[in-house]
Amino acid sequence: MKVDVLLGLQWGDEGKGKVVDVLTPRYDVVARFQGGPNAGHTLEFEGQKYVLRSIPSGIFQGDKVNIIGNGVVLDPALFKAEAVALESAGHGLKERLHISKKAHLIMPTHRLLDAAYEASKGDAKVGTTGKGIGPTYTDKVSRNGLRVGDIMENFSQKYEAAKQRHIQVLNALGYEYSLDNIEKEWLEAIEYLKQFTFVDSEHEVNNLLYAGKSILCEGAQGTMLDIDFGSYPYVTSSNTICAGACIGLGIAPNKIGDVFGIFKAYCTRVGSGPFPTELFDETGDKICTLGHEFGSVTGRKRRCGWIDLVALRYSIMINGVTKLIMMKSDVLDTFETIKACVAYDVKGQEIEYFPYSIEDDVKPIYVEMPGWEMDMTKMKSEDEFPEEFNAYLSFLEEQLGVPIAIVSLGPDRAQTIERYTEK
Ligand code: GDP
Ligand code: IMO
Ligand code: MG
Repeated sequence: MKVDVLLGLQWGDEGKGKVVDVLTPRYDVVARFQGGPNAGHTLEFEGQKYVLRSIPSGIFQGDKVNIIGNGVVLDPALFKAEAVALESAGHGLKERLHISKKAHLIMPTHRLLDAAYEASKGDAKVGTTGKGIGPTYTDKVSRNGLRVGDIMENFSQKYEAAKQRHIQVLNALGYEYSLDNIEKEWLEAIEYLKQFTFVDSEHEVNNLLYAGKSILCEGAQGTMLDIDFGSYPYVTSSNTICAGACIGLGIAPNKIGDVFGIFKAYCTRVGSGPFPTELFDETGDKICTLGHEFGSVTGRKRRCGWIDLVALRYSIMINGVTKLIMMKSDVLDTFETIKACVAYDVKGQEIEYFPYSIEDDVKPIYVEMPGWEMDMTKMKSEDEFPEEFNAYLSFLEEQLGVPIAIVSLGPDRAQTIERYTEK
């Protein structure tokens, strides 16, 4: 059995949560492989809306097993809040959620360090989600981290030692802080966490595969935020790309099957960093308003712009995308014309490849197409698609070289159309 991977191709918030939920009935297991509560994955069905941060988006579909893999960083306090809210909404998960012993723990002092580093950067700040993601992955790589498996043995000592190291850094940075409430809440959450099943997830995942079970891996963030291939240093601290699923779950590369690449019909970004197709005009405001482009967790306004096919081609290449999924085209339903960036102008030279830096001197070269100017949100089949929309899909497929298998026309689970290419 192979493992399919679903991941974002832009700067995150493409709609991964929604599509994982839609696809879950076809799989036995859903697994997160990287990131942490910097993610906010939104799902809507039967008039309810949920935003998940650390818990995989397969949790709402029957008795599927959901795994938090070793590549994830877990904040027990935020996890507890998320799990308790789900339990009280009738979605019990204790039996169905397995947590890797090798997943690293986000400590309260990691959150403080995140804030301290951001403050010390001034205008050059990354605009992180403030969840301690960078400092936790830093401790992992520098071999100082605490893992879920550490909870079971001499935890207090290990915690204190790590905390003292962090405090030294906070003091050196001259950062004023108080740990009073957050530490107590965090330590209580550690106790809560003990009710869950801690697993050697690499063994579990591979045993499931040998037993013929199917797994869907759920990415967080997006390729343009990848620590190696994103717009560094304005990125997150994990490998968000397909290869991250191998590392973050212990899956061999030759076990990867389909790679679902998700993108919005336009583009957004939260936080600092370059964004070649960003719009600073009424059109950008219109996309933001119609798309409700505000962070699912932080509420921050997302920067909006036209779709960037140069960046998308790069993401498709890095991930080996086999099927594309286009989200939120309904946001463009009232636009008379639609633009797509097909190349960059770099200091007067036209390039179609994604360059080393997109910071300066990169100007988008657009093609303009007629919009479909029709409400598509209630459509049930691609037979109903207007001609202009079909032309837009064909244009994108030609530019990107991969079929668009699914089109999403609204936030609800039901507003999802599979194209004939999939049947
Ligand atoms: P994720 O982080 O990739 O899971 O995406 P987010 O949940 O952060 O952001 C996507 C937002 O768009 C959420 O508010 C979704 O409810 C919403 N959404 C998802 N698909 C669609 C769609 O096709 N159309 C519209 N209008 N909204 C969508
Ligand atoms: P989902 O999974 C959008 C961005 C932050 C910041 C940068 C680094 O919902 O798509 P971090 O806190 O990770 O150190 O912040 O990455 N970022 C996201 N942007 N969607 C996300 O997740 C993001 N997770 C992090 O805004 O620019
Ligand atoms: Mg999100």
